[in-house]
Amino acid sequence: MQKSEEQKYRVRKLEISDKGKGFIELLQQLSVCDSVSDKEFEERFGELSDLGDEHVICVIEEEGSGKIIATGSVFIEKKFLRNCGKVGHIEDVVVDSSARGKHLGKRIINFLTEHARSMGCYKVILDCSVDNKPFYEKCGFHHKSLQMAIPINPIDENAESIPFSPRPYLKSKEGCTDGGKESAVV
Ligand SMILES: CC(C)(COP(=O)(O)OP(=O)(O)OC[C@H]1O[C@@H](n2cnc3c(N)ncnc32)[C@H](O)[C@@H]1OP(=O)(O)O)[C@@H](O)C(=O)NCCC(=O)NCCS
Repeated sequence: MQKSEEQKYRVRKLEISDKGKGFIELLQQLSVCDSVSDKEFEERFGELSDLGDEHVICVIEEEGSGKIIATGSVFIEKKFLRNCGKVGHIEDVVVDSSARGKHLGKRIINFLTEHARSMGCYKVILDCSVDNKPFYEKCGFHHKSLQMAIPINPIDENAESIPFSPRPYLKSKEGCTDGGKESAVV
């Protein structure tokens, strides 16, 4: 019997063995992610595991090859605002270049959004490039505001290198040169 797409592309939480299944190589398709030693991976995995449901990284493992082909994470921020409300922050969403266009990105976002909902978050937010705006709109997000950043230790080739200044350096969409990141909310 043929497996459904649901069974074939099951989203699950990151496991320690995923390092050997191409998880780091997948992240390298998103941004700077130099080689991570097994020890470094284990340490970071342990730190994140200690946070339990407050910080979840999910993945999709390709059947047959056993390769990790999609990932994303959500971090649950606890606030005093909104009656001690919680906000979910989605980060580090990437689908392997060979597997894009199969709704795997959408599956990852649905998983992370549902996790935030189950944790009692009143909203889920993320930053994305203008190019990815239509993808997130298809996932139910809408444009809410723009992102501002201080690149403290820029390792991203798109990030600007700035000298330390006691005055906050604010970067808005209008002023930035990396295509402009915007914030979206669901
Ligand atoms: C952005 C990304 C995660 C999308 O993943 P994906 O699995 O290819 O996307 P999906 O197949 O789930 O797309 C869902 C819907 O969005 C649409 N879509 C996806 N990317 C799009 C884009 N850049 N522009 C317009 N529409 C897009 C799809 O056509 C699909 O539409 P449909 O539901 O009508 O069929 C993937 O392209 C990627 O990893 N890019 C590189 C890393 C990156 O930029 N990550 C995002 C960081 S914010």
